[in-house]
Amino acid sequence: MNIRSAIKQEALAMDINRLTIKGTSMLKIIVIIVLIIASWSFAMQKNRGDYVNQPYQRASEVSSKTLVVVYSLTGNTEALAKEIAKKHNAELLYITAEAYEGGRGGTSAAYDAWFEKEKPIEPATVNLGQYDTVYLGSPIWWYRPAPPLWTFIKSNDFSSTDVILFNTFNSKFKQKNIDKFAAIVEANGGTFKDHIYIRRGRATPFQKNTQDVVNESKELLK
Ligand SMILES: Cc1cc2nc3c(=O)[nH]c(=O)nc-3n(C[C@H](O)[C@H](O)[C@H](O)COP(=O)(O)O)c2cc1C
Repeated sequence: MNIRSAIKQEALAMDINRLTIKGTSMLKIIVIIVLIIASWSFAMQKNRGDYVNQPYQRASEVSSKTLVVVYSLTGNTEALAKEIAKKHNAELLYITAEAYEGGRGGTSAAYDAWFEKEKPIEPATVNLGQYDTVYLGSPIWWYRPAPPLWTFIKSNDFSSTDVILFNTFNSKFKQKNIDKFAAIVEANGGTFKDHIYIRRGRATPFQKNTQDVVNESKELLK
């Protein structure tokens, strides 16, 4: 190879390098912008409404051997959880994740969901031995159940328990993520029975609100 063509090749390699760096930074900027817009629009939905502020009470103390576990940020999955619990006279357990509360919570939620990261939850472990059936619920974040529910299934023993996943979401989840979720439940001893959900529609004034979710839950669980 002569000197001229070596210089040409070097220059070409530098150009490609520069383009790749530009491309990577561009992608990062796009991801950050998407996350900011998403967390802003999700913060706008943080209207939990009267229904969600009403505590759930079991109709009778006789255990139905069913537990409903729910993580909900803005109250919609919580509404579905309460309807499931009412139907089965089940106990209702809330998972909380401090990282997603407060002003910056929405951004952390969007970031963790996108990059499949997880943050501590409360409670992390529960004795599920006394239940035949456990319903597990969360919103869908970036096409998969929200991170706190993954943390929960990874840290609990589901031996001899039937598991039903329930979600609320705006418009879309990916089935491959539900299959992954089911595989973890099964690896931890559970039998993954079903996936039920309510689609609320895109975040427009026509989106189903919490009361609509309550009404649709009643239909879904008939
Ligand atoms: C970080 C984040 C990501 C979301 N990603 C999706 C998504 O991928 N697909 C979808 O249909 N809805 C998505 N949503 C909308 C929620 O699933 C929907 O509003 C859900 O009903 C909220 O449930 P909650 O009120 O119980 O928190 C997302 C919401 C948040 C906060």
